[in-house]
Amino acid sequence: MAYSEKVMDHFANPRNVGELPDASGIGEVGNSKCGDIMKMYIKVEGNTITDCKFKTFGCGAAIATSSMASEMIKGKTIDDALKLTNKAVMEALDGLPPVKVHCSVLAEQAIKAALADYYRKNGIDPELFVGKMPECDEDHCNCSL
Ligand code: FES
Repeated sequence: MAYSEKVMDHFANPRNVGELPDASGIGEVGNSKCGDIMKMYIKVEGNTITDCKFKTFGCGAAIATSSMASEMIKGKTIDDALKLTNKAVMEALDGLPPVKVHCSVLAEQAIKAALADYYRKNGIDPELFVGKMPECDEDHCNCSL
């Protein structure tokens, strides 16, 4: 399965690349098997994610999924951002080859990690909302596919 035009577009012209110096939450996740790392920055005002930036050191699918995921949560409420799944990100990109599904999992986890950091910074136990963040994503990793 080849990459869709949308994947190629978000890989070649990723949206929201960079850092947010005044981020409300920062999440960093990595895949221990492929070694790729994704760092997501969110700015929260009221209950809304007003800005989102990312830095991804990884494969093309990881870059495309973090770009799309950042677009999808910008302007959303925290609750809606928490519901974003890797499946929704993949659908928005018109699909990914099966061996690249784990890259989209990284994007979902990076957003959850950033939201967990936001909760933590506000004195709220993130597990109540985000669930348990894996220390390492090996359990979720399908790299060997
Ligand atoms: Fe590691 Fe895509 S995230 S190969």
